[in-house]
Amino acid sequence: MQMHLVSVKFLVLVCFVSHNIMQSYQQLGVPENYEQMELNEGSGPESIAFDCKNEGPYVGISDGRILKWQGLNLGWKQFAVTSPNRDKKVCDGTTNSELEPTCGRPLGLKFNRKTCDLYIADAYFGLSVVGPNGGKAQQLATSAEGIPFKLTNALDIDTNTGMVYFTDSSNTFQRRHIFLSILSFDRSGRLLKYDPRTKNVTVMYKGLAFPNGVALSKNNSFLLVAESMKMRILKFELGDEAKGYVPEQFVQLSRTPDNIKRNENGEFWVGLNSGRERIQTDLLGFNTDPVGIKYDEDGKVLKELDGNGGLTFTSVSEIEEFNGKLYIGSVVKPYVGILFA
Ligand SMILES: *[C@@H]1O[C@H](CO)[C@@H](O)[C@H](O)[C@H]1NC(C)=O
Ligand SMILES: *[C@@H]1O[C@H](CO)[C@@H](O)[C@H](O)[C@H]1NC(C)=O
Repeated sequence: MQMHLVSVKFLVLVCFVSHNIMQSYQQLGVPENYEQMELNEGSGPESIAFDCKNEGPYVGISDGRILKWQGLNLGWKQFAVTSPNRDKKVCDGTTNSELEPTCGRPLGLKFNRKTCDLYIADAYFGLSVVGPNGGKAQQLATSAEGIPFKLTNALDIDTNTGMVYFTDSSNTFQRRHIFLSILSFDRSGRLLKYDPRTKNVTVMYKGLAFPNGVALSKNNSFLLVAESMKMRILKFELGDEAKGYVPEQFVQLSRTPDNIKRNENGEFWVGLNSGRERIQTDLLGFNTDPVGIKYDEDGKVLKELDGNGGLTFTSVSEIEEFNGKLYIGSVVKPYVGILFA
């Protein structure tokens, strides 16, 4: 996609004839350099990934499919599914969360840049992988230490070793009953590690309050984990496995963090998907509405994405900075947002 601000009008025209796949928005609270890639069916592209040829984005949606963006003319195309027995007739296009246990709900997506395989954290089907041509994903892990995963959520991959770090947000509640997890102060979440050489899953840390997004640092020396219910980001040094893993607090937030994505400079974008009812005030006393925050490796705030109190960014799950653009995922919206630099 080669798009620039100046071509917004042209794009709107193109999109109108190409099934209204992408829309340009000029509404209250939405910046001018913003566009949306509409999904034709389903909703909730929580996580966004680009493959090893920089094609995409790929998104996992409400009906259990992983879709690939093929450009303006072709739009979205099915790439992969996670559920071993998914019934296309029942599942395709659904936004009914009661169907998730059979249709699947792929939440976390990440390509291994060396093998071009796509690793998937599916809320109901654990950790899976699918090759560069897509199709039905192969399940790699559905439990650890004898305890089944209940809400596999997000992952990142060590660029040297291929080690996959991922979260199971709860071993008690499934995704569609997430409010029960909140009400009960659930602390059953785990941080896990999958070794592609031994095919072994290790529990790195347990007792977390809804561990969510994960991101490795640029040289893979540490891992950030969003602990959503405590509104904080934890940092795990990865150097010496024998020592065990003891987290330190990376940042405390005043809203709920969801996914964390590292950009090519080694900076981290954190999506803040709820907590907007609490008004934020900056150092100068102005009200702000951060729906995403970019941090450096030391936890210093570099940038904020402000929702301006509008509806477009009511649920920001993830911000993927790619090729100078911010791709904005949401677990409920029927679109991927794009902000141009
Ligand atoms: C696999 O992981 C378990 C702990 O989950 C550990 O006891 C075992 O030694 C590991 N096996 C290999 C081959 O790494
Ligand atoms: C990796 O990055 C960290 C943080 O930027 C730095 O302290 C460390 O020295 C780096 N490690 C290596 C092996 O380059």
